[in-house]
Amino acid sequence: MAEIKTQDIMEKIVSLCKRRGFIFQSSEVYGGINGFWDYGPLGAELKRNVKERWWESMTRQRDDVVGLDATIIMHPRIWEASGHTTTFSDPMVDCLLSKKRFRADQIEPQSGDAYFWTGAQDRETGKAVPEPYSVLIPSGKDAEYARKPARQFYQLRGLKSPALEGERMEPVVTSIRYNPENGSLLTEPRAFNLMFKTFVGPVESEDNVAYLRPETAQAIFVQFKNVLDVARQKVPFGICQIGKAFRNEINPRNFTFRSREFEQMELEFFIRPDDVAQASLGAPPDDAPVSTPAANWGWKEWHKYWVEERVRWYESIGLTRDSLEFYWQKKEELAHYAKATVDILYKFPFGTQELEGIAARGDFDLTQHQKFSGKSMEYFDEEAKSKYVPHVIEPSAGVDRLILALICNAYCEETVTDDKGSPETRVVMRFHPRIAPVKVGVFPLLKNRPDLVAKARAVRELLRPHMSVFYDETGAIGRRYRRQDEAGTPFGVTIDFDTLGEKPELLDTVTLRDRDTMEQSRVRIQDLVPTLLAKIT
Ligand code: GAP
Repeated sequence: MAEIKTQDIMEKIVSLCKRRGFIFQSSEVYGGINGFWDYGPLGAELKRNVKERWWESMTRQRDDVVGLDATIIMHPRIWEASGHTTTFSDPMVDCLLSKKRFRADQIEPQSGDAYFWTGAQDRETGKAVPEPYSVLIPSGKDAEYARKPARQFYQLRGLKSPALEGERMEPVVTSIRYNPENGSLLTEPRAFNLMFKTFVGPVESEDNVAYLRPETAQAIFVQFKNVLDVARQKVPFGICQIGKAFRNEINPRNFTFRSREFEQMELEFFIRPDDVAQASLGAPPDDAPVSTPAANWGWKEWHKYWVEERVRWYESIGLTRDSLEFYWQKKEELAHYAKATVDILYKFPFGTQELEGIAARGDFDLTQHQKFSGKSMEYFDEEAKSKYVPHVIEPSAGVDRLILALICNAYCEETVTDDKGSPETRVVMRFHPRIAPVKVGVFPLLKNRPDLVAKARAVRELLRPHMSVFYDETGAIGRRYRRQDEAGTPFGVTIDFDTLGEKPELLDTVTLRDRDTMEQSRVRIQDLVPTLLAKIT
């Protein structure tokens, strides 16, 4: 089976997502809204399955993590304490000609001939605009290529017939000062805060400003004491949350990868400071195994442990270790709160990009909230006989990015032979059965045979309490299989004449088709539930 992965794979994926109802553009009938996406029937199921598995593995399968579900709008002081009001910004530049906005750190460096002017004067009225301007064009190209946009620039500033002044040319190398799309000079970079602002209550004043949370993490820090009081947990332990986050990204791009509204799955795992953990037992050796937590683990061991846990989780939903990469952020790249951060990256068709960040945040957040709220965030550790502000390891994953990775990972085109022996392309979404939106398709062989239809409906009712089932009786059976292949449904059950006893030894058996191998086996109806449950859990 030859898999085809081509350059235009993203276009095919985006088109399949719309065609099959995984992802739609938000507000599409009004032309869409940049950076916002909706999940259709299959996408909503896929997303729900992924979030449920994360929640299950974080909370119900562990003794040391509990959950939280906090509000999106919180007290604005939280964002002062966390540093978001002052530092949560991206450098932004605008094209002086088209006004298009870019993230300064995402401009491709360019080389060529840069033309500069000191200003321009209107040939008819004599009006002067002494504003300097510059245009970059490929080396050796005629100067007229630069002068044309320059005249447009001065026309936009009120000169009908501008005569350019003070022209000079200088070759430039790897400059990021020019718009890669039209060569126009960009503005100087300005910091742009990514938080969405709103007002709480009827009065739109500075006193009532609030923010849509840009991360779910801060709610966990500010509820640390409340959770501690009720959850009967001792450090080390964690609090996790799944929820919406909002960032007014300058350039949303790569389909859902960088959106303005998205969901996060975050864990804040509270640990002892190294000196407390290692007071009696000393630090573990650098090469200590990190599979089973030990009492003297410091932040480095816990950090490695969580990276490994998270990779194992990704494997459990079908992302192999080979499809991931790890990036240890350099000192100068670290966020203001982080001692170390490992990014788990996925090899998307548009490049290898971050899925999840696992940060060692020290005691930064709890200490800040202690300072800003005046409420103690200290913890008395009875075992260690010590009082301290716990340190934190934070695995923070984006749901939407993960959904996109799972969709890219699942997408497969292969050439198969159709009923008439001719080659045809089969598009199949090879989701891991655990996360597949629909687990099983149920098909009566023929729609116009009431006995087949009745039996198929009975099989659907048998399966429905245990898994998501899609019943389809319309069209040729081969087309119905293909539709479910595109939806990523891992199994298909067909009710045929043998089910009804045409061959008496096959009475009450069905064919079970495997999406990936397309092989079919005969299974007794009474064995269907356990057979399928063993494959999808
Ligand atoms: N609390 C830490 C934190 O929020 P982050 O690296 O800014 O860290 C964590 O975000 C994860 O959230 C990212 O790894 C990514 O998966 C997701 N994420 C961040 N910004 C996003 C965006 N604009 N669109 C989609 N997902 C985003």
